[in-house]
Amino acid sequence: MKHIRILSLLLCLVMLLSVTAFASGEGVWTIVASDYSDATSTADTTDMFAPLNRQGAAESIVLLENRDGALPLDKGEAVTLIMAGSYRLSGGGSGASNASADAVITPQEGLDLDPDVTLAHFVDAANTGASGGPSGGSGEASEAETNEDAVYFSDFLESDALAKEYASDSTTAILWLSRYPGEGNNRYATAGDWYLSENEEKALALAKEYFDTVVVVLNLPSIDMAWVKEYDVDAVILYGYAGAQGGGALADLLTGKDNFSGKLAETLASLESYPAYENFETRALGVDYFTMTDGSLRHLAWWLDTPNPAYGYDNGNWIRPYDEYYFTKYEEGIYNGYRYFETFEPIVAAYNASVPGAEQTPFTVYYKFGYGLSYTDFDMEITDVTLPSAVPTASAPQEITLTVKVTNTGTTAGKDVVEVYCGAPDGVLENPSMELVAFAKTDVLQPGENQTLEITFDCYDLSDWYEDAAAYILMAGDYTIYVGNDIDEAKENAVVWTLDCRDYTVVAKGENLGGPDQPGGVYDQYLADFPEIALTELSKADYAETKPGADLGVLKNDTEIQDHVLGGSATRERFQAAMRNSDGSANYISPDSDYTYTEYYNHLYDQVIEAISDAQALYASEGKADIRLIDVYNGTATMDAFLDQWTDIELCAAVVGAGRVSQLFTGTTSDGKGVACGDGLQGNERLGVPAFSVSDGPNQIHGTTGATTTAWVCGNNRARTWNEPLMEQIGEATGYESLAVSTEILLGPAMCINRYPLCGRNYEYFSEDPVLTGVISAALIRGIQRSGVGVSPKHYACNQSEGENNDRWNKMDAIVSERALREIYTKGFEIVVKTSHPTSVMTGYNTVNGHYCAGNAELMGLLYEYGFDGISMTDWSGDWGNVLYDLTNGTEMLMPSNVYMLAYLYNALLISDGGRGLSYREAGGDFDVGMTIDRETLRLRVANILNTEMRMRVFFDYYGLEYTPEALPEAEFQVSIAK
Ligand code: BGC
Repeated sequence: MKHIRILSLLLCLVMLLSVTAFASGEGVWTIVASDYSDATSTADTTDMFAPLNRQGAAESIVLLENRDGALPLDKGEAVTLIMAGSYRLSGGGSGASNASADAVITPQEGLDLDPDVTLAHFVDAANTGASGGPSGGSGEASEAETNEDAVYFSDFLESDALAKEYASDSTTAILWLSRYPGEGNNRYATAGDWYLSENEEKALALAKEYFDTVVVVLNLPSIDMAWVKEYDVDAVILYGYAGAQGGGALADLLTGKDNFSGKLAETLASLESYPAYENFETRALGVDYFTMTDGSLRHLAWWLDTPNPAYGYDNGNWIRPYDEYYFTKYEEGIYNGYRYFETFEPIVAAYNASVPGAEQTPFTVYYKFGYGLSYTDFDMEITDVTLPSAVPTASAPQEITLTVKVTNTGTTAGKDVVEVYCGAPDGVLENPSMELVAFAKTDVLQPGENQTLEITFDCYDLSDWYEDAAAYILMAGDYTIYVGNDIDEAKENAVVWTLDCRDYTVVAKGENLGGPDQPGGVYDQYLADFPEIALTELSKADYAETKPGADLGVLKNDTEIQDHVLGGSATRERFQAAMRNSDGSANYISPDSDYTYTEYYNHLYDQVIEAISDAQALYASEGKADIRLIDVYNGTATMDAFLDQWTDIELCAAVVGAGRVSQLFTGTTSDGKGVACGDGLQGNERLGVPAFSVSDGPNQIHGTTGATTTAWVCGNNRARTWNEPLMEQIGEATGYESLAVSTEILLGPAMCINRYPLCGRNYEYFSEDPVLTGVISAALIRGIQRSGVGVSPKHYACNQSEGENNDRWNKMDAIVSERALREIYTKGFEIVVKTSHPTSVMTGYNTVNGHYCAGNAELMGLLYEYGFDGISMTDWSGDWGNVLYDLTNGTEMLMPSNVYMLAYLYNALLISDGGRGLSYREAGGDFDVGMTIDRETLRLRVANILNTEMRMRVFFDYYGLEYTPEALPEAEFQVSIAK
């Protein structure tokens, strides 16, 4: 039995007395449908969900340091709060996952409201000298003037006087550090962002000098942590973005009314130590001088068959210049995050010992994945194990069951997390030394109390993708299963399962994608054109030769690119046709054309408007169609017979998001929701198809009614709870709130993998680990969908970098091996698809191995291999490849779309249908649009949308039917808890 020591027993008696208060919060929330129907406004829901939100916040906040029992604070202890961040309180990052300032309990308010603590002084961070100011942050603290002792941060820094004065009547300084990253920009490795600003360091030094105790609270996703040791900080709390109730939850934790149970969902290390360090900032792939505005030129030869003149034409202007193209090599392969740090620590140490200082590999880990302190201690003991009774195969899967007893051996109540890792053997493939396979959180355990958890997972969860066999395999050898409440503790508490077979056993078959290592695949074609994308993956077998390195590639000039990509004079003309004119305007039509490009698109536009009025006339004269969607649902008509009644324009309109097409068809939903419909599906009264609206965001529903909704803890914080049932409850609450604000598909959760800390959107993503990401997301989705609201987990896949100044569209190409793609970057989506049946998936803006996600047949194929049967939609204006290409390769909905796209699509359908449309060549262009789209493909896409809609509440409401949630698939791993 391993005794797990979380904290010294130096805890105040006060805490003992406060145990019951938070223990009674256990199981605080059960939602029943009437909760939603009782709620008449989102003011009701935000109040109703406040306790759940506060629990989510409390469980997501991680205690990183607590020297000599600095926390909890003594009862009544006087504190000075120093808001030293660039922003006083950041409710979240910017963009889709932004959480608004409304109804946020700030740390100041939280402390002020708490009877067990005295907020003696408050130093406001109106201006730290760092970039930005409070207005940039969302969810800012209330004005400094609300506290009579408030002083501006700059005044506090002016001399020692204030620090000295405040320390004379308050013992503890709480230093609050904020950052506000988000969509469209990556973070910077600079002071005031990844590093402390000069003023933050100054404040820390002053606090350290004058106060007895210094506590630092981090209101940010992650940051360099060297200062903890440097300044000998007493306690450090990773608050992250803990939502509207965060301030109250923090006060509970600081005062010991609640106990910490959050654990890191990522490794906190120095920037240079991450294996993606050399390959995060993208490398230009030499399309250097082109300033294309139409997207018709692609850097890959086969894309030139698919010019996409319709896209990008918005409000009469061609938008989004296309100049450079970037790639990012995932050289670390499967060794993301702790998989790298755990496996390579000894390897890098040996390597560093053999080379001069300048060549050494930095390797500084501050806090490990899965780590987090508590005010109490736990014992964790494996009391029983059931190992496979036979060699697992695809047709005869095998499971492993662990029985783990967790005992609270300390003096304070608390929850613990059982983390189960596996060290799989090497063979035809190599493996990281530890990979998370399962986890479970205990209930609140009183001192002396224990709980037994039984955790079952499938041997498939231990398998690796082996391209040579196009299969998931388990290699012969020892599988060490580690159990603990963090990585290091787990290492001392293990059982071994020995798989006795020849080299390996196949546990599931699949199909290889055409990525690196697949001769003849699309990656190979790409490589032939651009040798700089060659990928060497990190291997523990040969660290020196495979360690990730800066590989800038060779920039080519435009002439070389033209020759290379276009290959000859005939195609050069095509290229020239797609170039800008000398006055800067786009030149799509050759100079001798009868049409200008504007005339061409006006023609397509008129054509679509005419088709829409024909459909409207049909409705006016014939009314509702004979077969409506309800007949398909009832099984009295086939989907085919139903679709036979659709006009071409109706088919096309169903796959382009409604928002910017506006309500071109008559009637939408029975309750008029369609009128307020934001982006989403356009309804069609003739055919009995209800409209649906989609809306951001995972952390707070933006909705379509303008009402304020709950600002929940952000994605990253959700993972730090390691609490699957709690996330399902939060999901359920979110679902009901979505209904209250007329959102039928919530655009989230955002579940890309945190690969490198400077990605601007890491805060909305969950973790560096795909199992934690997948299981927490699936729990949220199961909860959300129970209300009948749909979800769109995003951004499939590898959207792990934001670039700069919003230049992320169209630019990022993840060069990644199939194994890493399957085991790390799409694994979370696999878990979600298999265990929560999501309504939809949103593809990423980026490309993967040279193809835009939305049109990437192989990436989409992988989703279908996992069993996905919902709606795949593009990210917003993310259909850069070519809309026809996207639809042909697996995308159902082009979001949010515009009428020109509809016109383009409709024209392409007419061209493929007996040449009724106006081709580019006919319009005077000197080449044919290479792609068209046939009716059968469109029908398939529409059928898929409708089949999914018939699972959503919006469909039931439209027809006045009672909504019954669908049965859920089995969870990723099974946990049963007995006290
Ligand atoms: C973001 C998505 C978001 C969408 C709709 C995009 O810019 O990348 O995450 O859901 O906008 O707002």
